[in-house]
Amino acid sequence: MTTEPPNSRAHSGHDAPPSAPTIAGLREAAARCTACALHRDATQTVFGEGPQGALVMLIGEQPGDAEDLAGHPFVGPAGKLLDRCLAEAGIDRERAYITNVVKHFKWVPRGPRRIHSKPGAVEIEACFPWLKAEIAAVAPRIIVALGATAAQALFGRAFRVTRDRGRLVPSGLAPYALATVHPSALLRAPDEQTRDRETRRFVEDLRKVAAIVT
Ligand code: URA
Repeated sequence: MTTEPPNSRAHSGHDAPPSAPTIAGLREAAARCTACALHRDATQTVFGEGPQGALVMLIGEQPGDAEDLAGHPFVGPAGKLLDRCLAEAGIDRERAYITNVVKHFKWVPRGPRRIHSKPGAVEIEACFPWLKAEIAAVAPRIIVALGATAAQALFGRAFRVTRDRGRLVPSGLAPYALATVHPSALLRAPDEQTRDRETRRFVEDLRKVAAIVT
């Protein structure tokens, strides 16, 4: 049996999402999702986590190797850096809802390692109904796209994080929306000085988010 996201095209003809779905119910259904091929090579679906009434929803690209194994979003190196920056900006991770645009780890083998592979339009589209259902269930005051994949999935292909980061974006998905860089981009900075500067800019963006919810 296949399980498709709510409102996916596979549901056309009987495409009403469960009325008033809970995050727990969505997570349980998404665990069986086969809407794209990624479920075949991933360990498990990594669904979003956080309180259903969270004011802030942070949205990344897809789980990485550590998240795929643990079954939780943003628990690897990028997640640890995100935690530090959220704390510095005055946002309590425990009170935010954290998720990804794509909920299975896409990877290619390199020797014994599993190397991150960017999700494509087909996977993003297949997974998007889960994200929309999460946004509907949580109804956050602000959605925050982390990195270009999330920003373009949420705000359109023309969105440029380099140009538009840290600015409020009109969106029908939440009262406020904003995009910033992905914390893994900070980890990839070529030198310490760049990393420090870019991390400070990231924290500044998160402070704008904090100002909206406090
Ligand atoms: N990168 C993401 O975009 N999401 C995670 O959960 C981990 C790393």
